[in-house]
Amino acid sequence: MPLPHHTHTDSVDRTDLSLNPIFAREPGNVPRNRLPESELAPEVAYQLVHDELMLDGNARLNLATFVTTWMSPQARTLMTECFDKNMIDKDEYPRTADLEQRCVRILADLWHAEDPDDPAGCSTTGSSEACMLAGLALKRRWQQNNPNGSRPNIVMGINVQVCWDKFANYFEVEPRLVPMDGERFHLTAEEAVKYCDENTIGVVAIMGSTFDGSYEPVAEICAALDQLQQDHGWDIPVHVDGASGAMIAPFLDRDLVWDFRLPRVASINTSGHKYGLVYPGVGWVVWRNKSALPEELVFKVNYLGGEMPTFALNFSRPGAQVAAQYYNFVRLGRAGYERVQQYSREVASDLARRIKELGPFRLLTDGTQLPVFACALEDAETGYSVYDVSAALREDGWLVPAYSFPKNREDLSVLRIVVRNGFSHDMADLLINDLERALPRLQRQSSPQRGTESASFAHGTDSHSKRSG
Ligand SMILES: Cc1ncc(COP(=O)(O)O)c(C=O)c1O
Repeated sequence: MPLPHHTHTDSVDRTDLSLNPIFAREPGNVPRNRLPESELAPEVAYQLVHDELMLDGNARLNLATFVTTWMSPQARTLMTECFDKNMIDKDEYPRTADLEQRCVRILADLWHAEDPDDPAGCSTTGSSEACMLAGLALKRRWQQNNPNGSRPNIVMGINVQVCWDKFANYFEVEPRLVPMDGERFHLTAEEAVKYCDENTIGVVAIMGSTFDGSYEPVAEICAALDQLQQDHGWDIPVHVDGASGAMIAPFLDRDLVWDFRLPRVASINTSGHKYGLVYPGVGWVVWRNKSALPEELVFKVNYLGGEMPTFALNFSRPGAQVAAQYYNFVRLGRAGYERVQQYSREVASDLARRIKELGPFRLLTDGTQLPVFACALEDAETGYSVYDVSAALREDGWLVPAYSFPKNREDLSVLRIVVRNGFSHDMADLLINDLERALPRLQRQSSPQRGTESASFAHGTDSHSKRSG
């Protein structure tokens, strides 16, 4: 069954692609949605695809995504050299396999795992796969301890990224989503424990929330679960979804205890392709020790040469991103990561302050945790909406998503800005200039032109929307 897809027009374009005579000697057409009967010269095919892709947005002006949009020429060269290497062929490409192991050790050490020299962890295609693996380990551990348990559940804030809704759905675990309330936009310790019982496989704590960039209070959640264990005997582990923050907090918030220093934290994931600063797609998951990852989930396959242990949803996967991750680790080191992340945080917090000073906006977060912030209109009754602001900025090439919050705060619509490596103070100046120019025009409107239906950056589910990564 083909999956329903949505284009801008929501319709399938049945016309053929026409070959521009400047590129092809013979004029002609190529079917858009069917395999052509004949061949094209490689340079003509290249031009055809290249030209269509020109109409994509400019990745560097995309303030919606958390994913890396700039890497150094040396990293690009390295990746080009590795495009043909399959990560799974560990016997064929032992150096790439070793780089993966070194990256896992580096992350295990960064996050204070019990034995960073002999860690349990692996690379993935991104945080989504990493979260599935971590969730599966939680589920299997719970099953081992509760052979007669009824339906397992997982507790998390409603602000979790859609990968956790997928995990719960695909692997048949009841999602217990703690709703937002008033000005509480993420999970708190007090709320988390109210949703736990003897069938809770784990609590997910996010560093930081996709909705507004705020860190969830991991240490407080762990302490509340310690108390719950004392009161009821339920030993509920925590998974930290550090898709973005697990590569920010170790460099910028060294005093914040959120990782394996907390005995209740069983596993941590991050996206190498977010603040790990690698092009998409690479993610990582690390367990606190080998016993946190049930042995039976790890497959040993001998047809790859040797007895190679694998724990993954995919089999074949590109090796280039893993090489690029290792490149970043040796290139930047702790000092380099700190410098790059600090700059992003400074740009984010400065931009947040300047946007607030413009007058019409109120900040939900200020860019001092993840270099990300969300702002709403101070006056919800004005003649324009955040969706109008987003559309006005898009006219100048900026992709700044506007979206509504989930259950209990559906009334709240925000703009979110993600500052990444490559977004400078100078670009922030240009964004402010464009916003200042757009505001008088918007302020002359008598009523908002756009509403939640134009929240084009949302990956909607039936119950609530989830933000793009
Ligand atoms: C908190 C969080 N978890 C998981 C994900 C999914 O990450 P990926 O895109 O690497 O699969 C995201 C993406 O934005 C995220 O913000």
